[in-house]
Amino acid sequence: MGPRVRLGSIAALILAAGLLAASGSFTASAATPTGQRLKTLAAAANVLIGYASMNNFDTASDSAVYQQTARDEFNILTPENALKWDATEPQQNTFTFGAGDTHINFAIANNMVAHGHVLVWHQQLPGWITGRSWTSAELTSVMNNHIDKVMAHYVGKISVWDVVNEAFNDDGTLRSSIWQTTIGQSVPGSGYIEQAFRRARAADPGAVLVYNDFNIEPMNAKSDAVFRMVQDFKARGVPIDGVGLQMHLTNGGIGTTSLRSNMQRFANLGVSIYITEFDVRLPTPASATDLNTTQPTIYRNVVNECLLQPACKSIQTWGFTDAHSWVPGTFSNQGAALEFDEAYNAKPAYFAIQDRLAQGRGSGGTPTATPTRTATPAVATSTPTRTATPAAAGTCQATYTIVNQWNNTPTSGGFQVNLSIRNTGSAAITNWDLAFAFPNGQTIAGLWNAAFTQTGANVRVSANQSWNSTIAPGATMNSVGFTGNWSGTNTRPTSFTVNGTPCS
Ligand code: XIL
Repeated sequence: MGPRVRLGSIAALILAAGLLAASGSFTASAATPTGQRLKTLAAAANVLIGYASMNNFDTASDSAVYQQTARDEFNILTPENALKWDATEPQQNTFTFGAGDTHINFAIANNMVAHGHVLVWHQQLPGWITGRSWTSAELTSVMNNHIDKVMAHYVGKISVWDVVNEAFNDDGTLRSSIWQTTIGQSVPGSGYIEQAFRRARAADPGAVLVYNDFNIEPMNAKSDAVFRMVQDFKARGVPIDGVGLQMHLTNGGIGTTSLRSNMQRFANLGVSIYITEFDVRLPTPASATDLNTTQPTIYRNVVNECLLQPACKSIQTWGFTDAHSWVPGTFSNQGAALEFDEAYNAKPAYFAIQDRLAQGRGSGGTPTATPTRTATPAVATSTPTRTATPAAAGTCQATYTIVNQWNNTPTSGGFQVNLSIRNTGSAAITNWDLAFAFPNGQTIAGLWNAAFTQTGANVRVSANQSWNSTIAPGATMNSVGFTGNWSGTNTRPTSFTVNGTPCS
């Protein structure tokens, strides 16, 4: 990330924030944190940083300082409640998007990615669903209609969707929700989760589809069960692109070795990882040790693990100010869980996040995913030692996901793409060389973790890093991405070749 236009608009926002502060427009006294804003550091580290956007953020009494802090610090948001079923379909087949639109329009106006939460969940369902019994066929059609209508409303606006939330129990069995008891699901096997993901892919083929849950951050019976489900889905071609680790933690923190192993096994399946609902709740009143040492250490450790894992794409806290957090209302005698205090002052947890983001992806021998502009030719040389294994027909699957897009003018702007190549054959692909053509005159500005050339519409992206240049059978290379510019429209390329052979 980080083309000039985007940094320019960030600079403009910071300037605007300064002017607002100077003219005394803030209703609460917010101390501007020192150092660079989180989103600026996150963009340089090729990760998204964000928050759950509270109900009525636009009309609350502290709306001005809330919005300004959000604009200054974050580049992704999730509406905390406004896209849940009771909000979007309060009566059968009557859809209400007013509140959801307010959040999503705020995201778009401020160059943020919008993360949708949630299509299928057992909570915050309207009475018309829970108040009667359904046949499996009836409830399936209710679910499908909801997915179709909600996703269609936000096509091109919401790029990542939590499709199913919290479907498992801690022991790894499936939760007996209305969806499970009426439609069913077995793992491995078909059922409502699989149907929801298939339906979601059809409803918006461009959206990143995520399974989201809590207590699946470390290795345990529950994450084992989710892992088996994702493995089964991948093996059978059920569309799933990401796993959301909610990351609601206490001052006991999380074992980082276990978190790292767990993230790695999901990454090995070729799915992205999203930290979706991060907070660290403290017994209240919070002790100085918890606020100054324990909590910042936990925040830092989790940010560190995400940055060390190339498949980890975003870190979102569930809210950002202790003035508005679900914790005190949900867990008695606990609170102070977020990175800003109730008066919007940055807490030690904020500075821990800031400090770790500033160091970027990776350390030592760990691969870096920091965007680098490279002038290296794609087919670097005519060196005879170059040994690209030709991919046999139908042995690769390439995906091109627009993860962010922003405007300079109404009809042109910048965008960010993640590229992945899945090896669907039985032999390793080495020194991969991916080719495609842009349909609308798009241009690449900067690309990371590989080399590229662009000649007119034709693009070649070639491995130039030892750690991602070989793709084992069944594995997915998904560490390459780029930022670019578009004008008019920004349609995705449709056909790809790897080492000269077309991918499916
Ligand atoms: C919570 C919201 O924060 C509250 O405002 C609401 O009253 C209940 O839901 N896991 C999830 C979120 O997936 O949707 C929940 O959000 C928190 C736990």
